[in-house]
Amino acid sequence: MGHFFVTTPIFYVNDVPHIGHAYTTVTADALARWHRLAGDEVFFLTGTDEYGLKIQRAAEDNGRTPQEHADITSARFRETWDLLQITNDDYIRTTEERHRLTVQKLLQRVYDNGFIYSDTYEGPYCVPCEAYYTEAELNDGLCPIHDRPVEEMKEANYFFKLSEFEQPLIDWYEANPEAVGPDVRRNEALGIITQGLRDISITRSSLDWGVPVPWDDDHVFYVWYDALINYATAAGFGSDDDRFAEWWPHVHHLLAKDILRFHCVYWPAMLMAAGLEPPKALSVHGYLQVGGAKMSKTTANQIFPAELVDEFGVDGFRYHFLRDNSFGPDGDFSHEGMLERFNADLANNFGNLVSRVTTVVDKKCDGIGPAPRPDSPLASVAAEVVRDSAAAWEAISPSRALEHTWRLLRETNAFLEANVPWKADPGPEVDAVLGDALEVVRLACILASPAIPNATQAAWERIGLSGQVTDQRIADDAVWGLYPAGLTVAKGDPLFPRLK
Ligand code: MSP
Repeated sequence: MGHFFVTTPIFYVNDVPHIGHAYTTVTADALARWHRLAGDEVFFLTGTDEYGLKIQRAAEDNGRTPQEHADITSARFRETWDLLQITNDDYIRTTEERHRLTVQKLLQRVYDNGFIYSDTYEGPYCVPCEAYYTEAELNDGLCPIHDRPVEEMKEANYFFKLSEFEQPLIDWYEANPEAVGPDVRRNEALGIITQGLRDISITRSSLDWGVPVPWDDDHVFYVWYDALINYATAAGFGSDDDRFAEWWPHVHHLLAKDILRFHCVYWPAMLMAAGLEPPKALSVHGYLQVGGAKMSKTTANQIFPAELVDEFGVDGFRYHFLRDNSFGPDGDFSHEGMLERFNADLANNFGNLVSRVTTVVDKKCDGIGPAPRPDSPLASVAAEVVRDSAAAWEAISPSRALEHTWRLLRETNAFLEANVPWKADPGPEVDAVLGDALEVVRLACILASPAIPNATQAAWERIGLSGQVTDQRIADDAVWGLYPAGLTVAKGDPLFPRLK
């Protein structure tokens, strides 16, 4: 049994969650659910990033104090994750006391280790990014990410000696070829490092909405350098050393490419400077776009999860983003694609299989489920599907994992069409075919539960099984032949009525 510590970025509270935030969070949730099935001990962390100029200004625009604004928006994120049935184990807010303590402890260590010094900074700053740029990095004077004008900033700052970590970072990347993925992102991060790293400003004296710098009252930490530390706070750094020692070696960050530089360059360097291990893994995905553009408040092209949940249900929402937006490249959101996917995979394949099997068992077997055959022609397909789905989840590829799982559903629907048990007279032949199909439903419920937790639990109960699908374990339970004969099978309304 292993440990799996998975994190999402902590989201800024200037704005409410949209489907881009949900994409990362649903992916992390599905991975967490998969690892629980795999028997791992899981710690799944998400939360909100509440300090900095951007939040202070958003609060001012809304006539609130920054804390009031953060409280309101952080609650919106939490509600959205509840709606999407996200199973996070902790929800960190950077304005919590536990976080202040960890940030101060960790950065004091970096300071004591001699990697922080004081100097004056002057340069272009993008508030939406909360990041300084060099003139060369701007596009015609505009922020390369937001395409908006930057502000000139000048202030006395403390600097982190990032330049000293160029070689250690390169060595770390070489020694850990799997740590940052997929490969395009690893190369992008390595490219940033090999082009040369300059020291970075990590404090602010012009603002007080931040974590106070322990060695200088006039400064707060720059929002990114407290934010990254959230992962260490939640793992227990500075508050519970045993817990930190247990979980930190397993941390796996998920994020989109917009914040690759912070996570894949600055963060491992800061950890090294504090004498800690860099993250075990960083998985970086692309943007979920709408009409070819990144979603943002300014372009007013945001789509909110609740709108889609109203139409497709929680399972329909989760399934679409996991199946249709493979982890890595950018992908365009398409309502039409979502509808097609819902009808093809959920209504036709999953829903139809469950409804066929339960209806025919009701009719031909008096509603009592027969046993599967040990030598069923579906047994070897099932074994391959379990193996391939597991490998794909391990490789952070929910889309391929679900594709493999759906192969089993498709082949079983075809098997039923070839055997037409609904036309045959009751007897051992029909029992054999239906027993096999019931066993597939049982297995598919386990394998698909990270994506569609509600429908899989409902189907589980319809075929007469008790308990929770989520309590199953891949090694023990995702094995052909465990569906017991004699359970009461119930017909019911379609799990996924077709949508127009
Ligand atoms: N607060 C920082 C992160 C600090 S982590 C120590 C931040 N917040 S954010 O609210 O802007 O969230 C960025 C993250 O949200 C992305 O990295 C990604 O996980 C998710 N996404 C937001 N919009 C997205 C898309 N349009 N597409 C895909 N993911 C998106 O950055």
